[in-house]
Amino acid sequence: MKAASLFRERFGGEPDGVWLAPGRANLMGEHTDYNDGFVLPFALGQGVTAAAAVASESPAVRRLTLCSRQEPDTAVDVDLDGLAPGQVTGWAAYPAGVAWALGEAGYRVPGACVAIDSDLPVGAGLSSSAALECATALALTALAGVEIPRAELVTIARRAENEFVGVPTGVMDQSASLRCQAGHALLLDCRSLEVTQVPFDPAAAAAGLLLINTRARHALSDGEYGRRRAECEEAARRLGVPSLRAVTDPADVDRLGDPVLRRRARHVVADDQRVLEVVALLRSAADGGADGDAYGEIGRLLSQAHASLRDDFEVSWPEADTAVEAALAAGAAGARMIGGGFGGSVLALAPAASLDAVRDAVTSAFASRSWTPPEFLSAVPADAARQLS
Ligand code: GLA
Repeated sequence: MKAASLFRERFGGEPDGVWLAPGRANLMGEHTDYNDGFVLPFALGQGVTAAAAVASESPAVRRLTLCSRQEPDTAVDVDLDGLAPGQVTGWAAYPAGVAWALGEAGYRVPGACVAIDSDLPVGAGLSSSAALECATALALTALAGVEIPRAELVTIARRAENEFVGVPTGVMDQSASLRCQAGHALLLDCRSLEVTQVPFDPAAAAAGLLLINTRARHALSDGEYGRRRAECEEAARRLGVPSLRAVTDPADVDRLGDPVLRRRARHVVADDQRVLEVVALLRSAADGGADGDAYGEIGRLLSQAHASLRDDFEVSWPEADTAVEAALAAGAAGARMIGGGFGGSVLALAPAASLDAVRDAVTSAFASRSWTPPEFLSAVPADAARQLS
């Protein structure tokens, strides 16, 4: 456990505990969360680890001292009393924001030393920020001796990101990190916040998942994400509904005169529908239902979703389009970009026997364009955030 050894190096002594929060991939439902729609993420085996202990100074002084193995040059020390949005920037804004959001929710956390380690690539669209928030949230609440229900912790971690860091994300990433179960995808209704565990075991159907980090860096703060959000809100306003979730008949979208808003809304309405279709297919696969090729069908929906994100929502990027094309040509059942877009990762679903061919095809497609080689990560639906020791 490298977070614990970093803790010993930096702070001396043993941490009071070590907590892990996973990153996520999203099987279906992109840019649907902030439209009150459905998403279907699963937690990854990779994540962020936080080793932490209560700081030993007087209880009247509450300082949060943070260090990270990935950011060796920037140890950060903040005063928890009087902490406010805007005071901390860079990576430390995420953990500091969690301490702030806990305080805003009425939980007083003690001064603490926290050492962070991560095996999630940053900027790969795999939710390393939410994992950092959620690992810190578990650590600080445990040090404070309070147990907060996971649904409430999701809201606190998201508030850290929205209000302290200042990125207007939806509720998917923190929900995935805090609420997923191994062997399942998490069906989240972002309107009611109801969650349902859906069995998701591609290996049982001789299929496998491959995550392809295209190495094109994604940054949610660059404005495009916020612009898409505003366009969706405007489309809902013009259609006279509280959010695009309320549009269930795709034909209603055609009432939008503006072609850009029409395309944005078409993606959201169709992706919500695709989430429900994938859930039905996963359930039929788990029941050994009559539908023999549920995973083939899920693959087809993944590729359809990619086309929709590329053409209607316009958030894909050249490396993702190339990775999807190469994967499909090499025998993948389907593939699509995941996350906010404009960089990050592609998720491919393929028969287990084709996974090597898919990897090779994507590698050579990138090489022939002289792009940085992609990074491949395994994607096995894992458990939500937890204490390791
Ligand atoms: C980012 C955000 C999520 C979600 C996705 C797109 O990951 O953090 O809330 O909106 O983009 O589906």
